[in-house]
Amino acid sequence: MKVNNIELSVQLQPDLPLTMADFYQAQQVFMNIIINAEQAMVEAHGKGKLMIKTRIAGNSIQITFTDDGPGISEENINRIFDPFFTTKEVGKGTGLGLSICHGIVQTHGGHIYAKSEPGKGATFVVEMPIVSDNQISSASCQTG
Ligand SMILES: Nc1ncnc2c1ncn2[C@@H]1O[C@H](COP(=O)(O)OP(=O)(O)OP(=O)(O)O)[C@@H](O)[C@H]1O
Ligand SMILES: [Mg+2]
Repeated sequence: MKVNNIELSVQLQPDLPLTMADFYQAQQVFMNIIINAEQAMVEAHGKGKLMIKTRIAGNSIQITFTDDGPGISEENINRIFDPFFTTKEVGKGTGLGLSICHGIVQTHGGHIYAKSEPGKGATFVVEMPIVSDNQISSASCQTG
């Protein structure tokens, strides 16, 4: 699939186990990551490739987003989840996107991190804990 010069490939592992998440918050996390990747790739070379994959990693469901944009320098990679950290022009980014993602994933008991080889792109990894059917049905009883 190609949208706005971004070639998208999605590889979802079939029959993944369950995790438990607020639908809208999960959507917000994925959208923030995807929009960042799109902006980075389009700004760097007017086009790009985004690969989204899911798989099981230990006790988690792992979702990875790999782009072929400019990547993130070693200096910045430890700061991108900080509130208000942005490399975008004034008025273009608040620097809150990834800090919100980090907060949401953490409240769900998961992890989020980024890897990058500068010049070759960036990979964002979200790991959400696998939960059993029993945990889900008892949680939905509590919340009604
Ligand atoms: N896929 C990516 N490739 C390169 N740099 C990235 C990527 N994703 C995030 N970044 C870097 O991380 C910084 C912080 O991202 P974050 O989403 O928190 O804020 P923002 O995108 O700058 O602003 P906002 O999300 O409020 O529009 C970005 O300014 C950019 O420097
Ligand atoms: Mg952002």
